[in-house]
Amino acid sequence: MKSNRSFICFFLFISSIEIIHTNDQIYPWLNLPSTPSLPHPNQGHFLQLTNHRLWYNICGQSIHSPVLFLHGGLANSDYWSLQIQELQIDFQCIVMDSRGHGRSSSLSSSSESISYELMTSDVIALLDYLHLDKVHVIGWSDGANVGLHLGMNYSHRLFSLFIFGANYKAGEDNQSIPPLFLTYLQRVEVEYKKSHSNEEYEILFDKLLTMWHQSPNWTKVDLEKIPSDLLIWIVSGDRDEVIPREQTETIFKWLPQSGQLTLPRTSHFAFLQDSQMFNLVLRKFLNQNRNSSTNGSTILTRSLNLLSFIFLFRLIF
Ligand SMILES: *[C@@H]1O[C@H](CO)[C@@H](O)[C@H](O)[C@H]1NC(C)=O
Ligand SMILES: *[C@@H]1O[C@H](CO)[C@@H](O)[C@H](O)[C@H]1NC(C)=O
Ligand SMILES: *[C@@H]1O[C@H](CO)[C@@H](O)[C@H](O)[C@H]1NC(C)=O
Ligand SMILES: *[C@@H]1O[C@H](CO)[C@@H](O)[C@H](O)[C@H]1NC(C)=O
Ligand SMILES: *[C@@H]1O[C@H](CO)[C@@H](O)[C@H](O)[C@H]1NC(C)=O
Repeated sequence: MKSNRSFICFFLFISSIEIIHTNDQIYPWLNLPSTPSLPHPNQGHFLQLTNHRLWYNICGQSIHSPVLFLHGGLANSDYWSLQIQELQIDFQCIVMDSRGHGRSSSLSSSSESISYELMTSDVIALLDYLHLDKVHVIGWSDGANVGLHLGMNYSHRLFSLFIFGANYKAGEDNQSIPPLFLTYLQRVEVEYKKSHSNEEYEILFDKLLTMWHQSPNWTKVDLEKIPSDLLIWIVSGDRDEVIPREQTETIFKWLPQSGQLTLPRTSHFAFLQDSQMFNLVLRKFLNQNRNSSTNGSTILTRSLNLLSFIFLFRLIF
């Protein structure tokens, strides 16, 4: 009797593991895999700017031209680790923690606010400091929006642009926060507080919400500043829970030279959910214009972006 009950308990336990496991396989876009580690997790450098310090690191072989990775809002460079681990074999990979994020100095120590423009000027400052004339830029979410800023204003510093999960217009509708994004918010808070105070997190969070509420606010005329000979892909997960598809489609439509790529069975976190596919696609993209200033080659893509949750956030926090 007793052993029967134990058996049943054991069976239920095993089945529940099975169910979780199976659900991850059936709905991989509903899963947020753990944050990976960079190849040399304890290495890194700081670039001191007027009011703040930017953390960055460089790794890999410079057989091909350098690739700069820009992460999304509230995150840090670790989120690109699965891509760096793979590409560092033959690409020089540069990661940086955006202003106020990750290992870069917190915003409380700076009178400056945060904006896509300021984050863009940080990228240019880093490229100047490293004496890099041009890079490929791989941007996710806020990093993708910075990538678009670079395309509009500093295209002469770019070999190409891989835009994953960008938006062109701040959201105004009141969507509920998708569960996976809540999981992400909880996780980035814990990660940030490993090296920053509660107060510093609140300041960053608050300033980002304000930014997401107002920006970007681009029109076709703005995006048309991106030169037609710059290779650009607009990429998204087919199950993106953060960026409405209309945003991605519109950016794609406004950039006649762009390619659109929709990654199957992934969300705003495709590079973690299906890193193999993401890396394959990234390689395909980078191989198309190794060191070229992209003469004529065009492809297809599309993009996404952050937020329409602002009102809800306001209510919750
Ligand atoms: C590509 O560019 C990098 C610097 O940007 C240079 O070191 C490398 O030699 C170039 N490779 C080829 C094949 O031209
Ligand atoms: C780049 O150009 C856009 C569109 O004209 C403009 O809104 C934005 O402020 C500029 N950004 C930077 C960083 O110069
Ligand atoms: C969103 O919520 C705000 C405040 O609760 C409200 O004023 C606004 O009308 C709502 N917008 C939509 C599109 O439902
Ligand atoms: C976006 O820009 C338009 C003008 O192009 C302006 O009317 C609108 O208020 C702006 N939206 C935001 C959220 O700033
Ligand atoms: C593209 O390549 C052709 C031939 O190599 C060259 O004449 C042309 O100037 C190039 N265009 C650009 C935009 O680099």
